[in-house]
Amino acid sequence: MRIFPGTLDKNAQSELLNQIEAALDVAPLFVPRMPRTGRAFSVRMSNMGSLGWVSDKERGYRYQTLHPETDAPWAPIPQSLLTLWRELTDYPHGPEACLINYYTSDAKMGLHQDRDEEDFDAPVLSVSLGDRARFRLGGQNRKDKTSSMDISSGDVLILEKQTRLAFHGIDRIYPNSSNLLDGRQHFPDGGRINLTLRRVTKP
Ligand code: SIN
Ligand code: FE2
Repeated sequence: MRIFPGTLDKNAQSELLNQIEAALDVAPLFVPRMPRTGRAFSVRMSNMGSLGWVSDKERGYRYQTLHPETDAPWAPIPQSLLTLWRELTDYPHGPEACLINYYTSDAKMGLHQDRDEEDFDAPVLSVSLGDRARFRLGGQNRKDKTSSMDISSGDVLILEKQTRLAFHGIDRIYPNSSNLLDGRQHFPDGGRINLTLRRVTKP
């Protein structure tokens, strides 16, 4: 995994947040549900891009062009994120999906692989905004040894090559460790936002 601490400065973070808020006006946060059990994720989600990742009880994990509740298209991926992808990855095609994960104080994300994409040659690039979080990274098998590290607002991570299919998750966030989300219409409870850029289809 490649880690780029402090890639986005305060201004860039706040500008990106403006764009996320505009995207959520078009495609509001929704509560994803686990396949089969229908159990709600503690994280709320939306997407930007031509494809968005969604999950529900009936149809499971998938990418789709429309919001699952409003049937409206997702807002486009902000230019600054496309530039980040171009500058930090050597993958020659653009990302198609940018998943927006929103964590309030007790949200977390269990260990999982990102494997709903067709093209594992493309990296997954993630950007963190707001509260600090404990990120856990394992190997390609669920039972492999894991290790954890804290990631902060403005940090960028890239899962690629041997780590592209590595198990990963968020153990916890550190509530009120950042004031970036203060006063934001869509995030009255503060918390953390993670964006993950993904190439979904084979070019
Ligand atoms: C994810 O794996 O989808 C999210 C990771 C994170 O929130 O940093
Ligand atoms: Fe993931």
